[in-house]
Amino acid sequence: LLHEIENEPEAISAVMVEPVMTARGYIFPPAEYMQRLRHCTQKHGILMIADEIQAGLGRCGAIVQSRAQAWQPDLLVFGKSLGGGIVPISVVIGRADILDSIPAGAESETAAASPLSCAVARRVLELLHEEPLIEAGSRAGQHLRQHLVSVLADFDWPIRVEGRAATCVIECAASQTPISEAQEWARRIASACVRRRLRVQLSGPHATRIVMLPPLTIQTNELQLACERLQEAVQDVAAC
Ligand SMILES: Cc1ncc(COP(=O)(O)O)c(C=O)c1O
Repeated sequence: LLHEIENEPEAISAVMVEPVMTARGYIFPPAEYMQRLRHCTQKHGILMIADEIQAGLGRCGAIVQSRAQAWQPDLLVFGKSLGGGIVPISVVIGRADILDSIPAGAESETAAASPLSCAVARRVLELLHEEPLIEAGSRAGQHLRQHLVSVLADFDWPIRVEGRAATCVIECAASQTPISEAQEWARRIASACVRRRLRVQLSGPHATRIVMLPPLTIQTNELQLACERLQEAVQDVAAC
């Protein structure tokens, strides 16, 4: 991307990035890379937009993930968990000179300015500041990762446990395994999890990553249940 921008900056008006590649399987780039990208876009007068729809609001360890990586976007987008799992809502936050350039009243959509959504979002933000939810989510993620590592220790499978903060990822393309085999491992493990009623997401650029995202509010008994189901799913795969 850096190369593309440097090659033809005048052809690019804005760059939209996720500070963590959540939609590609929660891949965490080095903060230095994001800072370089910011520096490069700034140098060429290119807008930089942080899509924190999944990465922000605590999932990856901070309310504002770009800030945790020490760079400042021109525009920032939140969504999903901003609605607390109850209502749909998204927001664009950013430089006043950009946002104020939209003529008053020009922006309209069905769900815009829903009072209920706004009330829920406000409470979500208050709770994120008032309660140690991010720490709790990160502990849940770590618990899942440690549990998975201990369950997998009994097997010599070509897979690796990854993830940070409130994420847990199984990467099946972790060794010299051909990609088709890695995909088969991912498909088998994900199917076993779903059969055991554990909601996982098959993800990654080559569908070799299995993503688990515990709610930041997950309770101990729910986490225990998730761990049991995970263990059963692994045993199912081992048995067939
Ligand atoms: C990172 C990211 N950005 C943007 C979107 C799009 O959000 P919406 O479905 O609200 O349009 C999604 C949806 O999954 C997403 O995961």
